[in-house]
Amino acid sequence: MRARRSCLAVPGSNPRFLEKAQGLPVDEVFLDLEDSVAPLAKEEARANVVAALREGDWTGKTRVVRVNDLTTQWTYRDVIEVVEGAGPYLDCLILPKVQDHTQVIWLDTLLTQIERAMGFEVGRIGIEAQIENARGLVNVDAIAGSSPRLEALVFGPADFMASINMRTLVVGEQPPGYTEGDAYHYILMRILMAARSHDLQAIDGPYLQIKDVEGFRRVAARTAALGFDGKWVLHPAQVDAANEVFSPSQEDYDHAELILDAYEHYTNVEKRGAAMLGDEMIDEASRKMALVVAAKGRAAGLRRTTTFTP
Ligand code: GLV
Ligand code: MG
Repeated sequence: MRARRSCLAVPGSNPRFLEKAQGLPVDEVFLDLEDSVAPLAKEEARANVVAALREGDWTGKTRVVRVNDLTTQWTYRDVIEVVEGAGPYLDCLILPKVQDHTQVIWLDTLLTQIERAMGFEVGRIGIEAQIENARGLVNVDAIAGSSPRLEALVFGPADFMASINMRTLVVGEQPPGYTEGDAYHYILMRILMAARSHDLQAIDGPYLQIKDVEGFRRVAARTAALGFDGKWVLHPAQVDAANEVFSPSQEDYDHAELILDAYEHYTNVEKRGAAMLGDEMIDEASRKMALVVAAKGRAAGLRRTTTFTP
């Protein structure tokens, strides 16, 4: 699985941002053709995006393009121009405002046709489906199971709040007047369950108060605690916070690796299903939890600082 702790949004209509994004330490960069690009700039943005993918240095980053949603007249040309022009330099497409599984199947089919026609490897380009309206959330299980190309489900809070008439204009914060609990909990958990039941990643969307890095960190920490894999970043100031919040701490990572080694030793050498590691009892479920933390730590490039001795 690719790391997606930080997913940087870059408007495809802005060559300066396309250049600057290459120097930022993000796991994923997505070049946008959708809502950050004005209708009159869409065609030029496609050309910018193709050029940036082909000529830019995106080493170490997952390269993604967000096309326009299927209710617009732009989607098919977005896909054809970007994939024909830069297919081998592209890892994934984001399909926004997905409403049901047929929309993902449409994209999968179109990608396969382009890959065949161009002689590209068939099936290599993945899909991220953005869930950003009531219908998409109601259909999220079928969406999550709709294509082997799917790699992640992404929450789009701004469009989602508009779609359900939530009474707020501040994206990512609680709606004023909602004083108990978290107004996004159901939506986030629904997306997370659908993602996990199909082995997909779950990504949280943007936090628009870009000057408030502490606010970003607080909101990101909540979705990270639920199990989300990463979050969108809109500004360089949010990057380090996202990478940090969605990586396990060194202590948790070391602990996870220790559990894996200890459990391996106790089950295989001593043939015991449950054993003590210090003051803690570990069993098969502990191993599964440790695998998750260890995988996230390894993907984040952490190195263990302790070793297991029986
Ligand atoms: C992102 O696309 C959002 O709508 O929040
Ligand atoms: Mg949106």
